Amino acid sequence: MSSHDDNLPVLEADPIADPGLPDHTWRPTDVDPAMARRAERQVAFWFTLSMVCTVLFFVSYFAFQVGDDPSTFFGLGASTLFLGLTLGGALLSIGIGVIQWARKLMGDHEIVEYRHSAASSSEDREQALAALGLGAEESGIGRRPLIRNTLLGAMGLVGLAPIIALRDLGPLPGDALDHTIWSKGMHVVRDVVGTRILASELIVGDLVNAQPEALFTGGPDGGPMEGVELQVQKAKSSVIVVRMDPDDIIPGKGREDWSVDGIQCYSKICTHVGCPISLWERTTGNVLCPCHQSTFDLGDSAKVVFGPAARPLPQLPLAVDDEGYLIAQDDFDEPVGPSFWERDSQ
Ligand code: FES
Repeated sequence: MSSHDDNLPVLEADPIADPGLPDHTWRPTDVDPAMARRAERQVAFWFTLSMVCTVLFFVSYFAFQVGDDPSTFFGLGASTLFLGLTLGGALLSIGIGVIQWARKLMGDHEIVEYRHSAASSSEDREQALAALGLGAEESGIGRRPLIRNTLLGAMGLVGLAPIIALRDLGPLPGDALDHTIWSKGMHVVRDVVGTRILASELIVGDLVNAQPEALFTGGPDGGPMEGVELQVQKAKSSVIVVRMDPDDIIPGKGREDWSVDGIQCYSKICTHVGCPISLWERTTGNVLCPCHQSTFDLGDSAKVVFGPAARPLPQLPLAVDDEGYLIAQDDFDEPVGPSFWERDSQ
């Protein structure tokens, strides 16, 4: 239970008589003393095993030769191997013992902690303002306008300096993000390995990082792309393929046939500032960007439901070929990647 600060306004509700928690389930060790004693012996066993491992660790240290003529065990350095195994076993045994102890024998009851207002008390706020006022008074900033004005000028100018540095960010993207190498009929392949993806091998809840097959076949002599060309095309065309329950998907207008049995494909590049999105919450159908937590609802055309991203992830229209492998119906119908200044002027 939290203790309430008397200075804070009382915003919290009274404890709820029935918060809807399921009935407490007693563990076998709570109701059966014999089971409890057995669990106690199990915990003691792990701690004893840890002691044995530690003793063996000491033995290994002195027993095996190192240096010019090291002891070996199946071709491996015996000293390193046994020191690692025995110390690892000792630590692991303590960990298992503690977990068993906590799960089976330590107190088992629900704890409720009520939230309280995060605002400071009015007394704290008054103290903070008084401290600021005192600081301003002691600095003499009000009595010395020359210092105050030159300081404001210096800080204002130095604040403008980063604007100059914007030049080093490189040219605006122009139409470079309007098109990727995705095209009609291009196979969707798994990231890194480049194997085609059978629609039937994905199950509901799966998320696969994928690429256009051209990354693996569009290079010299029909091999993989290389160098800067590979990096540029991969950065623009990386996608995620997810399979959801079709009943959980609200297709966007005009996108009714862009998915295959609940399999959808979206750009992997966050529309905020371009990090690769990666965190998939299969139960909510949301995918998160790890950089600033933008969250996209893949059940609703990847609309932004949280975070700083300003627009949904672009969707790649999917289909299957005669053998059931996933292919693109076309390129994205909007620029991929982060929002940028010229985007809406095109
Ligand atoms: S880059 Fe994805 S949230 Fe910022």
